[in-house]
Amino acid sequence: MNLYHHSGRFSGLLIAAAMMLGGCADQATPNDSTPPSAKAQRIAAMKQVTDQHSFARPNEARITHLNWNARIDFDARTISGTATYDIETAADAQRIVFDTHELTIENVTVDGQPSEFSLGDAQPFLGRPLSVPIGADVQKVAIQYTSDPGADALLWVEAQGDKAPFLFTQSQAILARTWIPVQDSPGIRFSYDADVEVPAGLMALMSAENPTAMNPDGRYSFKMEQPIPAYLLALAAGQVEYRDVGERCAVYAVPELIDAAAYEFGEMEQLLLAAEELYGTYAWDRYDLLILPAAFPFGGMENPRLTFATPTIIAGDRSLVALVAHELAHSWSGNLVTNATWDDFWLNEGFTVYFEQRIMEAVYGRETSEMLATLSYQGLVDEVDAISDLNPDDTHLKLHLAGRNPDDGMTAIAYDKGYFFLRLMEETVGRERFDGWLKNYFEAYAFKGMDTERFVDYLNSTLLADEQDKAAVRIEDWIYGPGLPDNCPAVSSPRIEKVDATLTAWEAGTLATDELPWEDWIYQERYRFLSNLADNTTAERMAELDAAWGIGATGNNEVLFAWMEQAVRSHYSPTYPRMEQFLIEVGRRKFLTPLYRAMKETDQMDMARDIYGKARGGYHAVATGTMDELLDWK
Ligand code: BES
Ligand code: ZN
Repeated sequence: MNLYHHSGRFSGLLIAAAMMLGGCADQATPNDSTPPSAKAQRIAAMKQVTDQHSFARPNEARITHLNWNARIDFDARTISGTATYDIETAADAQRIVFDTHELTIENVTVDGQPSEFSLGDAQPFLGRPLSVPIGADVQKVAIQYTSDPGADALLWVEAQGDKAPFLFTQSQAILARTWIPVQDSPGIRFSYDADVEVPAGLMALMSAENPTAMNPDGRYSFKMEQPIPAYLLALAAGQVEYRDVGERCAVYAVPELIDAAAYEFGEMEQLLLAAEELYGTYAWDRYDLLILPAAFPFGGMENPRLTFATPTIIAGDRSLVALVAHELAHSWSGNLVTNATWDDFWLNEGFTVYFEQRIMEAVYGRETSEMLATLSYQGLVDEVDAISDLNPDDTHLKLHLAGRNPDDGMTAIAYDKGYFFLRLMEETVGRERFDGWLKNYFEAYAFKGMDTERFVDYLNSTLLADEQDKAAVRIEDWIYGPGLPDNCPAVSSPRIEKVDATLTAWEAGTLATDELPWEDWIYQERYRFLSNLADNTTAERMAELDAAWGIGATGNNEVLFAWMEQAVRSHYSPTYPRMEQFLIEVGRRKFLTPLYRAMKETDQMDMARDIYGKARGGYHAVATGTMDELLDWK
């Protein structure tokens, strides 16, 4: 079954078939062309691997479509509304179970009739199951509810001066349930439509077909025809403008950033074309980018049709677009073929880093992509070191996150060990074969869930069917074993090696500060230099670098971040005011964690606590969760 359409949307038949097969790893068969017709077949298709992070029992009853009607109240900081689901049931179904987390459930109807419901006890991270009694013939369940002002998925950014307020959601991994009652498991897919009301003067956007202009009455309608898992549900509301940057691509941003964003991401369409050239037609119609407030806790989030991104990737010179390549790649790895549980997270992220690298290579050349791969290798080696002592099992690709926050799986293992595993396979079988295989994989499992065991079976019977290839790759070691196997591919980047040699010479005193080729270096080289400065670099040496090259004033946030981390370690205080301002403005966890950790490790906890006290109110729950623990904040 070919689920890709060159343009336009899916036909009704294909959507129905995709929905019926959605999320059912067991049913996924390459080139299956007959949509199941009888209910019995559908029920068989509903069997799927158990997700320890959801209360839903999809084998008994599952959602297939959501109709969402909601009102966003900035004063009360609540989302209230009704989620009406179309459902599919097994012959002996007695209940349907939803995930909720700190939601107030007001009432429930079943096929239009008021129904009883029960909420189970709250469990750490997971929230409470909402159970609604049903029979096998039930078709619709409607839940009226209100979210909590402290809902973890949501960040409410207050109006400031003439700046309008902003709201955004971050649902991955299991936070969708804090703003909508839903079967919040990556193996359960549904299409949706929505009617949302926001305060006049704001535009609302979702992971769906979106408006391109403000509607004076604040009412917006949305439609997502392709079935998606709950972690890809997304909503934002703010005073944003729309600007086309290509035929299928546009950026949304606040007025102050729209020009800069349109320039920075002017090559989005090229990335999209390169991606399609590699692994098949884009399945989501449009690919737009929303620039969020700097408090966004991540770099990017691959919400379908509309990637959410941090403004910290606007550097003025397009040097940080790899992040867009990454989120775009998720349109295949993740959004089409989806990790069945969070233990299989590497199937989303490892594949995406690999695909990201290939897009970067296609558009900017091998030298650039190899520089990125070198940085990723360094990050991976450091992470393996850091995790191996604490929890060696967390260095396996396949994780065991039952009873834990799935957020714990968001390490360089899933991303970069996953990447090197795919690269090893590419180098073993040759690029041409590998590319054909990967394209088939995306097509065969589009709109389905994939778990690690099923993937290994698939791999063994397709790409690595040959015993010699199998022996060369050592699947078991990579997926179920610790650390980095010794057949990890080598990356080579002469330019990065040159940076390393330059750093050695500078540290030995054989190269003067004003002889550094700083001006000739691009971001990756500057980043490598700064992040590899010795921990005992003195404040005097930092002052020399600052004076010669004005590094503390750079507009590239990655370079600035690497500089600030070293400034903390060197006690180079002239950078501290800028860092404080940065930490108050920016809520991207990837920057916060190392900076606060550096303060903690260098006996500067007073400064850490002082800055955190000022900044914490502006951070998203995903970031405060990590930082509260790091700084022992109560
Ligand atoms: N899907 C992830 C973000 C995510 C993962 C959110 C797990 C919540 C739980 C996204 O695609 C991502 O990986 N973002 C990275 C950027 C990327 C270039 C490595 C980030 O935000 O740092
Ligand atoms: Zn990702």
